[in-house]
Amino acid sequence: MPGLSDATRGRLLFGGDYNPEQWPEETRHEDVRLMKAAGVNSVTLGVFSWSTLEPEPGAREFGLMNTLMDLMHEHAIGVVLATPTASPPPWMGRLHPDTLPVTEDGRTEWWGGRQHFSHSSATYRRYAAAITEDLAARYGGHPALTMWHINNEYCTYDYGDQAAAAFRRWLRAKYRTLDALNEAWGTAFWSQGYDTWDGILPPRLPHYLRNPGQVLDFRRFTSDMLLECFTAERDIVRRHSPHTPVTSNFMPLWSGQDAWRWAGEEDVVSVDLYPDPRDPLGAQSGALVQDMTRSQARGPWMLMEQAAGPVNWRGVNHPKPRGLNRLWSLQAVARGADAVCYFQWRQSRQGAEKFHSGMVGHAGEEGRTHQEIKRLGADLARIAPEVSGRHVTARIAVLHDWDAWWAGAQDGRPSSRMEYPDVLRAWHRALWQAHLVTDFAHPLHDLTPYAMVVVPQLYALTDAAVDHLLAYVRQGGTLVCGFQTGVADEDDRIRPGGMDARLRELFGIRTLHEWWPLEEGETAACEGFHGTLWSEELEGDGTADETLPYEGGELDGLPAVLRKGRAWYVSTLPEPEALRDLLARIAAGAGVRPVLDGLPGQVEAVRRGEVLFVLNHDREPVTVEVPGTHRDLLTGTDVTGRITLGRYGAAVLRP
Ligand code: GAL
Repeated sequence: MPGLSDATRGRLLFGGDYNPEQWPEETRHEDVRLMKAAGVNSVTLGVFSWSTLEPEPGAREFGLMNTLMDLMHEHAIGVVLATPTASPPPWMGRLHPDTLPVTEDGRTEWWGGRQHFSHSSATYRRYAAAITEDLAARYGGHPALTMWHINNEYCTYDYGDQAAAAFRRWLRAKYRTLDALNEAWGTAFWSQGYDTWDGILPPRLPHYLRNPGQVLDFRRFTSDMLLECFTAERDIVRRHSPHTPVTSNFMPLWSGQDAWRWAGEEDVVSVDLYPDPRDPLGAQSGALVQDMTRSQARGPWMLMEQAAGPVNWRGVNHPKPRGLNRLWSLQAVARGADAVCYFQWRQSRQGAEKFHSGMVGHAGEEGRTHQEIKRLGADLARIAPEVSGRHVTARIAVLHDWDAWWAGAQDGRPSSRMEYPDVLRAWHRALWQAHLVTDFAHPLHDLTPYAMVVVPQLYALTDAAVDHLLAYVRQGGTLVCGFQTGVADEDDRIRPGGMDARLRELFGIRTLHEWWPLEEGETAACEGFHGTLWSEELEGDGTADETLPYEGGELDGLPAVLRKGRAWYVSTLPEPEALRDLLARIAAGAGVRPVLDGLPGQVEAVRRGEVLFVLNHDREPVTVEVPGTHRDLLTGTDVTGRITLGRYGAAVLRP
């Protein structure tokens, strides 16, 4: 199978979405001049070009695309060619209303925006296959082509009649009998038993709470339907260009796709990443997505989109202060990216995203944003030979699973304040702040490469996953589990005792009496720290080697944290510094050390291959001890013993 290295060929890809259909011809020549000067070596064409390529049903207008492909080739700029299927032309919805998705409350999503397609529509799929076929036949052998980009950020839901029919087919294949479905969904409660498959609907908006089993299966179904759309187009382009890798860009930590499964179907795993420049935790949330994408890719990955400056979809859209775009780009490379790309090359003057930045903004070539892009292009070219294709090695894995997320994220739960992504972020952030580099893994992945496995929260676990965790600990691994782990099985059926019995035994818990979720601003005092968000009324079974008790209140004296051997259970969300210190202590016990000792909080250090990235996420300069002598690949100078990094400064050090 081809991979990212077939596109990078030892370089770091640098460029972005290029949508020149918006511009007059002379702008294209200006674009190429600026791209060359900035070191751009990759553009993504055609992401939203469907109505240009197929202005009326069945028509084909490849003139502009021919010109662009040839122009890029002439200038040695590779093309990531997209299938345009994320935004069907207006004629499709007009002539074929069955291609339009329907929301949970029965509203049709009309054309006039984008992503207005029903994954279950046979008509949509037929048109998508046809345009993909013709694009692939025409450009599959074009020398500019380096990669296929299928659709864009698959993210649609459909609750309409076609989706209902497809959902029933999906359910029949899964359950075979209605009895099995009724049993799995627990339909005996609230008189929901089905007597015919035709009675089953997507979980459309009901009077009161929905059936959780139905919602869970609908989320699985939706991810599967979108995946079918992806693989159908992937297989077409592969037939025409078997040696060209195929990707589809994920949204970061997006709930709609089981990205573990999806990643297994892609040649290149790519993601779009837009942390808020004003968010003090922006670098940390970026690191999470980067670690997760690298783990899905099992190696180098592609940053398909980021913003050179502001986006236009937050309430208030802040530009990136000087130096931040470079810093966050180098952070992505440090954490395994072999491509640093943007939405989009040239900022639009019209259309819904005219206030979204581009690599060339409205201020043009002289604008600060573009000047910083140029500098970044030069930096990436300098470091590429030493980092492209290299791996990041982590000794800690954080477990994450979409199924568990979907099962746990439903209405009618103990606390609507508890959001799975927030819990995941809090734990990953604590590890980031302890300067510990982490992979992510699915609960059934091979965990033997890791000295420590962290489970922030896996509400639902299969029996096989529980066995896997127990085996990991038996074989000498250190396991740290957060609250609400192992509560339910894969049908979202609560385990007897409110938590899997084998896990309770693993941690030394006899009885989980009650969950005590905490209100906003409320904390639970524990020995040495405060817990937030959640607490639990646990009774130990006397086998734990260490417990940290709750202090005061209803839970006074009961265990907040238990350790039995190498298995830890944390029944609350410790405040950030406390969680950081706890995890740092456990990691040290498991023999896992930070990349560098004594790092200040705002400095990130990651080793990729032989190369050490040191990144200052602060506006104030900082001096960092780096034992030995290194060559800073960014400046070409030698560094011995210590290095001073300026505002948002970075060093890329080779021993
Ligand atoms: C992404 C999308 C791009 C662009 C960008 C703006 O979600 O793939 O086409 O809309 O957001 O931030």
